[in-house]
Amino acid sequence: MSELVAAAVAAQQGAYAPYSKFRVGAALRVSGRVVTGANVENASYGLSMCAERTAMFAAVASGATELEEVVVCTDASPPSSPCGACRQVLSEFAKDWHAVTVTSVNPAGEHRTWTIAQLLPDGFSGRELPP
Ligand code: THU
Repeated sequence: MSELVAAAVAAQQGAYAPYSKFRVGAALRVSGRVVTGANVENASYGLSMCAERTAMFAAVASGATELEEVVVCTDASPPSSPCGACRQVLSEFAKDWHAVTVTSVNPAGEHRTWTIAQLLPDGFSGRELPP
């Protein structure tokens, strides 16, 4: 098991998902560091936060901004792919959308891998904005 897969599996234990019961762990390699997160739900459902964004925001807030690789762990089979909001947020910090990969795993050992470019074709980025 790779370091990042092991970290995502462990991070899933931190999920707070009493409403959906869908527990998600995420492990990112950002600027050479491993940063983890889990989904955190709220009784006011719309305030819930996904594991990928929890991890990405923690990384950036700690000074690590160059996203290199993502692993997500859920109990879904086949392994689930990240939601649209997380795709957008991850893309912000991936320099090369064709090189940065997102892998989803589950406890059965199944895995699926995509690049950011595959997850977000023709995605919006800061390059669209005026200088
Ligand atoms: N969730 C994630 O953590 N990541 C995703 O990419 C998809 C959805 C969470 C949000 C919510 O807590 C639960 O899974 C069900 O949608």
